[in-house]
Amino acid sequence: MERLTPERLREEQATTLAEPKMRYGPLVTLFFFLFDLVYGRRRSWSKFKVLEVVARVPYQAWEHVAYIAITHIYFEQADYARRIFDRVKESRAQQDNEQWHLLILEEWTHRQKIRESFVFYRLLPQVIAFFYYQISWLLYVFKPAWSYRLNAAFEDHAAREYMQFVKEHPELDSIPFESAFKQDFGNFPTLADVVRQIGYDERVHREESLAQIETARFV
Ligand SMILES: [Fe+2]
Ligand SMILES: [Fe+2]
Repeated sequence: MERLTPERLREEQATTLAEPKMRYGPLVTLFFFLFDLVYGRRRSWSKFKVLEVVARVPYQAWEHVAYIAITHIYFEQADYARRIFDRVKESRAQQDNEQWHLLILEEWTHRQKIRESFVFYRLLPQVIAFFYYQISWLLYVFKPAWSYRLNAAFEDHAAREYMQFVKEHPELDSIPFESAFKQDFGNFPTLADVVRQIGYDERVHREESLAQIETARFV
């Protein structure tokens, strides 16, 4: 995943916030309505963490389905197998990227000693992620484009939320980024830049999913 300079990150923030919102289907609209009902409309570090736990699972589901497909391939279909494997690698890279987002958020909430209820911030996210995985998996098996569209909407929402959060919190621009994950995610001067980079990653994820809809095939 490309790491941007602070100047570029500010440009990308402006681009994301100026973009018209994607049109979400009824399932996504309902999901975000319920999500705001449970976690509140206010953007917060803890709420982002819940989103990140859920954001990983479509990539895991796609990787799983792709492996099943590879198992059913015969020797004469080498090109097809390679294409599926490329898809597996892409899903894994996206999953890893989401994992760093989660770890960085986790680290920050821990340092800030932000109190979180076990039920709402540990248990419930896993329950949501479990069902979201099943939905992503089934959609991908029956109609991959639907699964990609669902994920694109999710990523569109995430990109916007992160960029809006930085805008609402100008104090983040004066907090240096100190993290055990600098080597893994990138060395950014401030916490605001990290959040902008996360927001940018989400937009890239959205674009990758939208590009897959174009082909609308299994691989
Ligand atoms: Fe993320
Ligand atoms: Fe994402």
